[in-house]
Amino acid sequence: MRWKNTSTHYGAVTKMFHWLVFLIFANQYIVAFAMLGIEQHETALGGFRQGTLYNWHKSIGLIALLVILFRYTWRKTTRLPNWAETLTRTERRIIHWYERILYIAMFIMPISGYLYVMAGNYGVHFFSRVHLPNPIPQSEILAALARWTHIGTAWLILIVLAVHVGLVLKHQLIQRDGLLRRMLPFV
Ligand code: HEM
Ligand code: HEM
Repeated sequence: MRWKNTSTHYGAVTKMFHWLVFLIFANQYIVAFAMLGIEQHETALGGFRQGTLYNWHKSIGLIALLVILFRYTWRKTTRLPNWAETLTRTERRIIHWYERILYIAMFIMPISGYLYVMAGNYGVHFFSRVHLPNPIPQSEILAALARWTHIGTAWLILIVLAVHVGLVLKHQLIQRDGLLRRMLPFV
């Protein structure tokens, strides 16, 4: 198994980060919509109370920031494989842009979430065990700005990901050039 990317293949570390972030984001969206869809006394996702879901979403979200920092550092310090030959020039331009947007959005999500709950004085009860210190003075304006940034970026990510996944699936299923295999683990 190769750890690092080569000119023709993604290595194990890049693949691990790609799919770990995918799982974390899937978790964040599912838990967010569950916690926002119920009242305080109700439960969702197999019996979890709203407060527990909020604590889980905030805690995993903060861990996501660390993972994303490592991922970005890895990306900036290792080479990328050459473009897949079957990608057209327009597709390469589109990929170039959506990768930038995705990396920026990956940072905006946890940071805006943190600013929202800290400036709004809701705090973070880390995995329902430890109350994290709040270094940010209470500010209704900052909390509102951060909240709308969090919500807006969440929807932007869904749109950009639809383009990303659509492009990969078009190559995989219509052109049948095996583009997906480049990122699959154990391949
Ligand atoms: C990778 C990180 C994160 C992702 C992908 C994510 C995703 C989401 C999504 C999809 C929503 C629902 C947005 C909507 O209403 O349409 C949401 C809401 C929320 N998130 Fe996050 N989140 C992340 C990190 C965080 C962090 C670190 C915190 C706080 C420490 C946080 C706190 C919240 C709160 C409080 C809400 C409810 C907002 C409201 O009242 O409408 N999130 N998040
Ligand atoms: C949270 C969800 C996702 C994010 C943020 C994301 C982001 C990225 C990024 C930034 C890259 C460039 C390589 C890198 O820097 O790691 C990439 C490559 C890739 N992604 Fe995703 N991705 C996501 C989900 C998916 C899904 C669901 C699929 C499967 C359909 C997929 C398939 C691929 C493939 C095949 C490549 C390699 C393309 C190439 O040959 O260069 N991704 N992704």
